[in-house]
Amino acid sequence: MSQAQVVDVPESDPRVKQMLKVIKNYQKRPDALVQVLHAVQDTFGYLPMNLIRVVSKELHIPPSRVFGVVTFYYYFSLKPKGEHNCLVCTGTACYVKGAQKIIDQISASFGVKDGQTTPDNKLGLQTARCIGCCGLAPAVVLDNEILPRTDPAQITGLINARLGAKK
Ligand code: FES
Repeated sequence: MSQAQVVDVPESDPRVKQMLKVIKNYQKRPDALVQVLHAVQDTFGYLPMNLIRVVSKELHIPPSRVFGVVTFYYYFSLKPKGEHNCLVCTGTACYVKGAQKIIDQISASFGVKDGQTTPDNKLGLQTARCIGCCGLAPAVVLDNEILPRTDPAQITGLINARLGAKK
């Protein structure tokens, strides 16, 4: 298991220029913060710390507010994620319907714990305290796709299929 590290992106990276263009397209409006963060996350796969500071400066929003938004939404990550990412909801509705069993099964099958990625960086596992679809409990988000009423065997099967081989 490996604990993903916080990794800055050099400002000479051409994707940073692209990011500044996105910010410009939103006319540097502070209310575009979430959209800009989405664009940065989609481009880099996570939110590099140094670029959060650039976003903060460009949109004239205090860094503390930007970090507040970043940590509020489960979608955003401050660390590089795995090639595939599995987020298990551990909110009350999902918990009572077996979220812990799903986490335990993923950990046992793939050797990864909450907040970590596998050593080959193929799979990242995260948890969140309610992703807003309690009627679908237990809910899991696999590579940004919400999977309703899941169970441990189904999730490990799906992950195995995405990883392309049984472990
Ligand atoms: S508790 Fe899992 S979606 Fe709300």
